Amino acid sequence: SYVNTREILDKASKEYYGVAAFNINNLEFLQAILAGAAEKKSPAIIETSEGAIKYAGMGDYFKGARIFVNMVKEFANDLDIPVALHLDHGKDFNIIMACIKAGYSSVMIDASHYDFEDNLRITKDVARIAHAAGVSVEAELGQLAGIEDNVEAAENVLVNVDQAEKFCAESEIDFFAPAIGTSHGAFKFKGEAKLDYDRLKKVKEITGKPLVLHGASSVVQEYVKIAEEHGADFGGSKGVPSDVLKETVKFGINKVNTDTDLRIAYIAGLREYLDNDSKQFDPRKYYKVAMDYTKQVVMDRIDILGSAGKI
Ligand code: G3H
Ligand code: 13P
Ligand code: NA
Ligand code: ZN
Repeated sequence: SYVNTREILDKASKEYYGVAAFNINNLEFLQAILAGAAEKKSPAIIETSEGAIKYAGMGDYFKGARIFVNMVKEFANDLDIPVALHLDHGKDFNIIMACIKAGYSSVMIDASHYDFEDNLRITKDVARIAHAAGVSVEAELGQLAGIEDNVEAAENVLVNVDQAEKFCAESEIDFFAPAIGTSHGAFKFKGEAKLDYDRLKKVKEITGKPLVLHGASSVVQEYVKIAEEHGADFGGSKGVPSDVLKETVKFGINKVNTDTDLRIAYIAGLREYLDNDSKQFDPRKYYKVAMDYTKQVVMDRIDILGSAGKI
C-alpha cells in the first residue's frame, strides 16, 4: 500500500533498524526495487531527485511528479508492503510544491547550503505547507563531505549538535539528515571510511528524530568488478562498507539513501549482457540482467539494514 513516509520511519526509529531509500529515474529501477522489497517483505521508500522529475516530465516538473506518483501508486496498491515516494534534495520551491500537489508521501527541503538561520526559516515554511497537505518533511544540516583527520575541517562541514537540537525543535520536521562524513557518488573516501559516530549518537539522543544518512552507498565491489570487466572504468571507487552502515543504524540512522549502488549494479548487468549477446536489440531482454542485479543489491541492503519482515 501507498503510505506516508513518516509511518515507515517512526516505526524504524522506535525499533532501531534502517530502511533504504532508493533513487529512481525510470520504470525499470522501480520494478527491480519493488520486486526486491516485496520478496523481503520490507517497507520501501522510493525517492526521486529534482533532476529525475524533470527528466521524467521532459522538462515539465508538474508532469514528472505526477508520472512518478501514478507509477508508484499503481504498483504499491497491489503490494502488501508499505511503499512511500519521497522528493530527494528539494531545493526549488516550485518543484517541492509540484510534488506536494501531485501526492508525494514526503519531501526533503534541502537548504543546507544556506546559513543556519536561513536554513531554519526556509525549512519551517516548507514544513508548514507540506504538513497542511499531509506530506512529511526531511531537512539537512551540515555539508556532505568526507572528513580526513582534520578536526577543524570536520567542525566546519559536519552537523553541529547544538544547532541540530534547535533546528529539530523549531522546524517541526519529521526526519532529520545530519552530515556525519559521507558524500554522494562512488568516491567517498580516500582511505578508510570514517564517520563521526559520537556526533551521530548525540544527535539521536538530543533530537529523538528518525535520522537520514545521505551518500550511504557501499559501492559494492562485486558489481564494480563485473562492470569493469565489461568496459567500465570506476578507478578507485569506495563507499560506506556494510559493517559501517550497521553501526550507523545501531546509533540511530533509519533512512539510508541509496542511488550509486543501484546505478553500478544496473550498468554491470547491462554491460555484461550486451557484451555477451551482440544480436539482441529488444530492451525487455537486454534490461533483464541489469534489473536482476539491481534487485539483488536491493535485497542485500535490506538484509544489512534489518528491514526485512518489518511490515
Ligand atoms: O543526491 C543525489 C542523488 O544521487 C540523485 O542525483 O541529481 O543525479 O538525480 P541526480
Ligand atoms: P549515494 O550516491 O551514496 O547512493 O547517495 C545517494 C543520496 O544520498 C541521495 O540523496
Ligand atoms: Na532525501
Ligand atoms: Zn543525498
